[in-house]
Amino acid sequence: MSYNHKNVLDTEQFSKADLDFLIGKTRDMERLVEQNKAFGILTGKLLASLFFEASTRTRLSFEAAMERLGGRVISTVGFQFSSISKGETLYDTMKMVEAYADIAVIRHPVEGSSRIAAGAVKIPVINAGDGAGQHPTQALLDLYTIISEKGTLDGLTVAFIGDLKYGRTIHSLINLLRHYKVHLYLISPPELALPESYKKGLEGHPISLEETTDIKAVWECDVAYVTRIQEERFPDHREYERLKDLFKINKELILASKKETTILHPLPRVNELSTDVDDLPNAAYFRQARYGVVSRMTLLCLSLGQDF
Ligand code: NCD
Repeated sequence: MSYNHKNVLDTEQFSKADLDFLIGKTRDMERLVEQNKAFGILTGKLLASLFFEASTRTRLSFEAAMERLGGRVISTVGFQFSSISKGETLYDTMKMVEAYADIAVIRHPVEGSSRIAAGAVKIPVINAGDGAGQHPTQALLDLYTIISEKGTLDGLTVAFIGDLKYGRTIHSLINLLRHYKVHLYLISPPELALPESYKKGLEGHPISLEETTDIKAVWECDVAYVTRIQEERFPDHREYERLKDLFKINKELILASKKETTILHPLPRVNELSTDVDDLPNAAYFRQARYGVVSRMTLLCLSLGQDF
Protein backbone atom coordinates (compact mmCIF):
# COMPACT_ATOMS: atom_id res chain seq x y z
CA MET A 1 0.00 0.00 0.00
CA SER A 2 1.56 3.30 -1.11
CA TYR A 3 -0.88 5.44 0.90
CA ASN A 4 1.13 6.75 3.81
CA HIS A 5 -0.73 9.48 5.68
CA LYS A 6 -1.00 9.39 9.44
CA ASN A 7 -2.54 12.86 9.67
CA VAL A 8 -5.31 14.35 7.52
CA LEU A 9 -4.65 18.10 7.63
CA ASP A 10 -5.44 19.51 4.18
CA THR A 11 -6.18 18.36 0.65
CA GLU A 12 -2.82 19.30 -0.87
CA GLN A 13 -1.34 16.26 0.87
CA PHE A 14 -3.22 13.81 -1.38
CA SER A 15 -1.93 12.65 -4.78
CA LYS A 16 -4.20 11.21 -7.46
CA ALA A 17 -2.90 7.73 -6.47
CA ASP A 18 -3.92 8.43 -2.85
CA LEU A 19 -7.40 9.43 -3.99
CA ASP A 20 -7.81 6.29 -6.12
CA PHE A 21 -6.69 4.22 -3.14
CA LEU A 22 -9.04 6.02 -0.73
CA ILE A 23 -12.04 5.64 -3.02
CA GLY A 24 -11.36 1.91 -3.34
CA LYS A 25 -10.96 1.50 0.42
CA THR A 26 -14.12 3.49 1.14
CA ARG A 27 -16.00 1.19 -1.23
CA ASP A 28 -14.56 -1.82 0.68
CA MET A 29 -15.68 -0.22 3.94
CA GLU A 30 -19.18 0.40 2.59
CA ARG A 31 -19.40 -3.30 1.74
CA LEU A 32 -18.18 -4.32 5.22
CA VAL A 33 -20.82 -2.07 6.79
CA GLU A 34 -23.55 -3.59 4.60
CA GLN A 35 -22.44 -7.06 5.68
CA ASN A 36 -22.27 -5.99 9.34
CA LYS A 37 -18.55 -6.80 9.44
CA ALA A 38 -17.03 -3.41 10.33
CA PHE A 39 -17.72 -3.54 14.05
CA GLY A 40 -14.61 -4.58 15.96
CA ILE A 41 -11.97 -3.29 13.53
CA LEU A 42 -10.98 -0.56 16.03
CA THR A 43 -11.84 -2.29 19.30
CA GLY A 44 -9.71 -0.88 22.11
CA LYS A 45 -8.94 2.40 20.31
CA LEU A 46 -10.00 5.75 21.72
CA LEU A 47 -10.84 8.84 19.67
CA ALA A 48 -10.60 12.34 21.18
CA SER A 49 -13.26 14.46 19.48
CA LEU A 50 -12.24 18.12 19.96
CA PHE A 51 -14.79 20.54 18.54
CA PHE A 52 -13.94 24.13 19.45
CA GLU A 53 -16.35 25.51 16.83
CA ALA A 54 -20.02 24.81 16.08
CA SER A 55 -20.75 21.43 14.51
CA THR A 56 -23.52 18.88 14.46
CA ARG A 57 -22.92 16.77 11.37
CA THR A 58 -19.17 16.44 11.34
CA ARG A 59 -18.86 15.67 15.04
CA LEU A 60 -21.66 13.12 15.04
CA SER A 61 -20.34 11.64 11.80
CA PHE A 62 -16.86 11.06 13.27
CA GLU A 63 -18.24 9.77 16.54
CA ALA A 64 -20.66 7.43 14.73
CA ALA A 65 -17.77 6.25 12.52
CA MET A 66 -15.61 5.40 15.55
CA GLU A 67 -18.46 3.67 17.41
CA ARG A 68 -19.43 1.67 14.32
CA LEU A 69 -15.87 0.35 14.19
CA GLY A 70 -16.08 -0.74 17.83
CA GLY A 71 -13.83 2.09 19.06
CA ARG A 72 -14.73 4.54 21.84
CA VAL A 73 -14.95 8.34 21.96
CA ILE A 74 -14.11 11.07 24.47
CA SER A 75 -15.10 14.58 23.52
CA THR A 76 -15.07 18.25 24.31
CA VAL A 77 -17.30 20.85 22.68
CA GLY A 78 -16.72 24.62 22.50
CA PHE A 79 -14.19 26.83 24.24
CA GLN A 80 -16.60 27.70 26.98
CA PHE A 81 -16.30 24.30 28.62
CA SER A 82 -12.65 23.66 27.85
CA SER A 83 -9.50 24.78 29.65
CA ILE A 84 -8.73 26.96 26.61
CA SER A 85 -11.17 29.42 28.22
CA LYS A 86 -8.72 29.52 31.18
CA GLY A 87 -5.90 30.49 28.82
CA GLU A 88 -4.49 27.07 28.03
CA THR A 89 -2.62 26.88 24.72
CA LEU A 90 -3.61 24.45 21.97
CA TYR A 91 -0.16 22.88 22.40
CA ASP A 92 -0.85 22.04 26.07
CA THR A 93 -4.36 20.79 25.28
CA MET A 94 -2.94 18.45 22.66
CA LYS A 95 -0.19 17.15 24.98
CA MET A 96 -2.88 16.19 27.44
CA VAL A 97 -5.08 14.63 24.74
CA GLU A 98 -2.10 12.55 23.61
CA ALA A 99 -1.87 11.08 27.10
CA TYR A 100 -5.52 9.96 26.90
CA ALA A 101 -6.38 8.99 23.34
CA ASP A 102 -5.02 7.12 20.29
CA ILE A 103 -6.21 9.61 17.67
CA ALA A 104 -7.68 13.14 17.68
CA VAL A 105 -10.15 14.94 15.44
CA ILE A 106 -10.10 18.70 15.79
CA ARG A 107 -12.33 21.55 14.61
CA HIS A 108 -11.09 25.02 15.43
CA PRO A 109 -11.97 28.57 14.30
CA VAL A 110 -8.35 29.49 13.49
CA GLU A 111 -6.96 28.62 10.07
CA GLY A 112 -3.86 26.42 10.37
CA SER A 113 -4.67 25.25 13.91
CA SER A 114 -4.87 21.55 13.04
CA ARG A 115 -1.30 21.66 11.74
CA ILE A 116 -0.19 23.23 15.04
CA ALA A 117 -2.14 20.55 16.91
CA ALA A 118 -0.54 17.77 14.86
CA GLY A 119 2.92 19.25 15.43
CA ALA A 120 2.46 18.98 19.19
CA VAL A 121 1.76 15.23 19.37
CA LYS A 122 2.71 11.79 18.06
CA ILE A 123 -0.86 10.49 17.74
CA PRO A 124 -2.65 11.00 14.39
CA VAL A 125 -4.60 14.26 14.02
CA ILE A 126 -7.49 14.79 11.62
CA ASN A 127 -8.62 18.30 10.63
CA ALA A 128 -12.42 18.59 10.87
CA GLY A 129 -12.43 22.22 9.67
CA ASP A 130 -10.08 25.06 10.56
CA GLY A 131 -11.71 28.47 10.21
CA ALA A 132 -12.05 29.58 6.59
CA GLY A 133 -9.14 27.26 5.72
CA GLN A 134 -9.85 23.63 4.87
CA HIS A 135 -12.15 20.73 5.65
CA PRO A 136 -10.38 17.77 4.04
CA THR A 137 -12.60 14.93 5.31
CA GLN A 138 -15.69 16.71 3.98
CA ALA A 139 -13.94 17.00 0.59
CA LEU A 140 -13.06 13.29 0.57
CA LEU A 141 -16.64 12.33 1.34
CA ASP A 142 -17.88 14.79 -1.31
CA LEU A 143 -15.55 13.21 -3.86
CA TYR A 144 -16.80 9.76 -2.90
CA THR A 145 -20.40 10.98 -3.14
CA ILE A 146 -19.96 12.37 -6.67
CA ILE A 147 -18.27 9.19 -7.88
CA SER A 148 -20.92 7.00 -6.24
CA GLU A 149 -23.82 9.06 -7.61
CA LYS A 150 -22.43 9.70 -11.11
CA GLY A 151 -20.23 6.64 -11.62
CA THR A 152 -17.25 8.80 -12.63
CA LEU A 153 -15.75 12.26 -12.31
CA ASP A 154 -13.92 12.66 -15.58
CA GLY A 155 -15.84 14.67 -18.12
CA LEU A 156 -18.28 16.13 -15.58
CA THR A 157 -19.27 19.78 -15.25
CA VAL A 158 -19.55 20.89 -11.63
CA ALA A 159 -20.94 24.17 -10.26
CA PHE A 160 -19.92 25.66 -6.93
CA ILE A 161 -22.55 28.10 -5.72
CA GLY A 162 -22.52 30.54 -2.82
CA ASP A 163 -19.68 31.57 -0.54
CA LEU A 164 -16.53 30.62 -2.43
CA LYS A 165 -14.44 33.03 -0.38
CA TYR A 166 -15.00 31.68 3.11
CA GLY A 167 -16.43 28.21 2.34
CA ARG A 168 -13.74 25.78 3.46
CA THR A 169 -15.59 22.78 2.03
CA ILE A 170 -15.27 24.37 -1.40
CA HIS A 171 -11.57 25.16 -0.91
CA SER A 172 -10.87 21.56 -0.06
CA LEU A 173 -13.06 19.94 -2.71
CA ILE A 174 -11.61 22.09 -5.50
CA ASN A 175 -8.15 20.92 -4.51
CA LEU A 176 -9.26 17.31 -4.98
CA LEU A 177 -11.21 17.89 -8.20
CA ARG A 178 -8.15 19.41 -9.87
CA HIS A 179 -6.82 15.86 -10.36
CA TYR A 180 -9.75 15.06 -12.69
CA LYS A 181 -10.83 16.23 -16.12
CA VAL A 182 -13.64 18.37 -14.73
CA HIS A 183 -15.08 21.72 -15.84
CA LEU A 184 -16.04 24.07 -13.01
CA TYR A 185 -18.54 26.90 -12.95
CA LEU A 186 -17.84 29.16 -9.97
CA ILE A 187 -21.12 30.96 -9.27
CA SER A 188 -20.94 33.70 -6.64
CA PRO A 189 -21.15 37.45 -6.18
CA PRO A 190 -17.71 38.94 -7.02
CA GLU A 191 -17.26 39.81 -3.31
CA LEU A 192 -17.38 36.10 -2.44
CA ALA A 193 -15.21 34.80 -5.30
CA LEU A 194 -12.74 31.95 -4.82
CA PRO A 195 -9.45 33.28 -3.36
CA GLU A 196 -6.60 33.59 -5.88
CA SER A 197 -4.42 31.10 -3.99
CA TYR A 198 -6.92 28.29 -4.70
CA LYS A 199 -7.19 29.30 -8.36
CA LYS A 200 -3.40 29.27 -8.67
CA GLY A 201 -3.34 25.77 -7.23
CA LEU A 202 -5.30 24.53 -10.26
CA GLU A 203 -2.63 25.56 -12.76
CA GLY A 204 -1.00 22.65 -14.56
CA HIS A 205 -3.92 20.32 -13.76
CA PRO A 206 -6.55 18.87 -16.12
CA ILE A 207 -9.38 20.92 -14.53
CA SER A 208 -10.80 24.06 -16.22
CA LEU A 209 -13.00 26.81 -14.77
CA GLU A 210 -15.31 29.71 -15.55
CA GLU A 211 -16.49 32.35 -13.07
CA THR A 212 -19.98 33.74 -13.45
CA THR A 213 -22.74 35.54 -11.55
CA ASP A 214 -25.42 33.82 -13.65
CA ILE A 215 -27.22 31.13 -11.64
CA LYS A 216 -28.53 29.63 -14.90
CA ALA A 217 -25.07 28.16 -15.47
CA VAL A 218 -26.43 25.36 -13.24
CA TRP A 219 -28.40 24.16 -16.27
CA GLU A 220 -25.12 23.12 -17.92
CA CYS A 221 -23.96 21.11 -14.91
CA ASP A 222 -23.92 17.45 -13.89
CA VAL A 223 -23.37 18.40 -10.25
CA ALA A 224 -24.32 21.56 -8.33
CA TYR A 225 -22.51 21.99 -4.99
CA VAL A 226 -24.51 24.55 -3.02
CA THR A 227 -23.12 26.26 0.07
CA ARG A 228 -24.27 28.50 2.88
CA ILE A 229 -23.02 32.09 3.07
CA GLN A 230 -20.63 31.80 6.04
CA GLU A 231 -22.13 34.48 8.29
CA GLU A 232 -19.67 33.91 11.14
CA ARG A 233 -16.63 34.72 8.95
CA PHE A 234 -17.74 38.22 7.83
CA PRO A 235 -15.80 41.07 9.48
CA ASP A 236 -18.77 43.37 8.65
CA HIS A 237 -22.24 41.95 9.30
CA ARG A 238 -23.86 44.48 6.94
CA GLU A 239 -21.92 42.91 4.11
CA TYR A 240 -23.40 39.52 5.04
CA GLU A 241 -26.92 41.00 5.06
CA ARG A 242 -26.32 42.48 1.60
CA LEU A 243 -25.05 39.23 0.06
CA LYS A 244 -26.93 36.51 1.92
CA ASP A 245 -29.95 36.05 -0.36
CA LEU A 246 -28.48 36.64 -3.82
CA PHE A 247 -28.37 33.04 -5.03
CA LYS A 248 -31.08 30.53 -4.32
CA ILE A 249 -31.59 27.06 -5.67
CA ASN A 250 -35.16 25.81 -5.88
CA LYS A 251 -37.10 23.04 -7.56
CA GLU A 252 -38.18 25.20 -10.51
CA LEU A 253 -34.56 26.05 -11.36
CA ILE A 254 -33.43 22.43 -11.11
CA LEU A 255 -36.32 21.05 -13.17
CA ALA A 256 -35.36 23.48 -15.97
CA SER A 257 -31.84 22.03 -16.16
CA LYS A 258 -30.73 20.53 -19.49
CA LYS A 259 -28.88 17.84 -17.55
CA GLU A 260 -29.66 15.45 -14.72
CA THR A 261 -28.11 17.82 -12.18
CA THR A 262 -27.21 16.16 -8.88
CA ILE A 263 -27.51 18.58 -5.94
CA LEU A 264 -24.95 18.41 -3.14
CA HIS A 265 -24.71 20.57 -0.02
CA PRO A 266 -22.35 20.01 2.95
CA LEU A 267 -25.18 21.31 5.20
CA PRO A 268 -26.33 23.09 7.30
CA ARG A 269 -28.48 25.06 4.85
CA VAL A 270 -30.09 28.42 5.49
CA ASN A 271 -32.02 30.07 2.60
CA GLU A 272 -29.79 29.15 -0.33
CA LEU A 273 -31.37 25.73 -0.93
CA SER A 274 -35.14 25.46 -0.88
CA THR A 275 -36.72 22.47 0.87
CA ASP A 276 -38.88 21.93 -2.24
CA VAL A 277 -35.77 20.36 -3.84
CA ASP A 278 -35.67 17.61 -1.19
CA ASP A 279 -38.12 15.26 -2.86
CA LEU A 280 -36.33 15.29 -6.23
CA PRO A 281 -34.31 12.12 -6.88
CA ASN A 282 -31.28 14.30 -7.73
CA ALA A 283 -31.23 15.83 -4.22
CA ALA A 284 -28.23 13.90 -2.90
CA TYR A 285 -27.35 15.89 0.25
CA PHE A 286 -28.80 13.48 2.77
CA ARG A 287 -27.17 10.53 0.99
CA GLN A 288 -23.96 12.61 1.11
CA ALA A 289 -24.17 12.60 4.93
CA ARG A 290 -24.47 8.80 4.84
CA TYR A 291 -21.40 8.46 2.60
CA GLY A 292 -19.63 10.66 5.16
CA VAL A 293 -19.73 8.02 7.87
CA VAL A 294 -18.10 5.30 5.72
CA SER A 295 -15.50 7.80 4.44
CA ARG A 296 -14.58 8.71 8.01
CA MET A 297 -14.53 5.06 9.10
CA THR A 298 -11.98 4.49 6.34
CA LEU A 299 -9.84 7.48 7.36
CA LEU A 300 -9.87 6.55 11.06
CA CYS A 301 -8.63 3.03 10.23
CA LEU A 302 -5.93 4.19 7.83
CA SER A 303 -4.66 6.93 10.17
CA LEU A 304 -4.39 4.36 12.94
CA GLY A 305 -2.52 2.00 10.58
CA GLN A 306 -5.32 -0.54 10.82
CA ASP A 307 -5.94 -2.16 7.43
CA PHE A 308 -9.23 -3.90 6.73
C1 NCD B 1 -19.55 22.84 6.72
C2 NCD B 1 -18.44 23.41 7.58
O1 NCD B 1 -18.47 23.28 8.81
O2 NCD B 1 -17.53 23.97 6.99
N1 NCD B 1 -20.38 21.96 7.40
C3 NCD B 1 -20.00 20.66 7.53
O3 NCD B 1 -18.94 20.35 8.00
N2 NCD B 1 -20.84 19.72 7.05
C4 NCD B 1 -20.29 23.84 5.95
C5 NCD B 1 -20.89 25.02 6.64
O4 NCD B 1 -20.78 25.20 7.85
O5 NCD B 1 -21.50 25.81 5.91
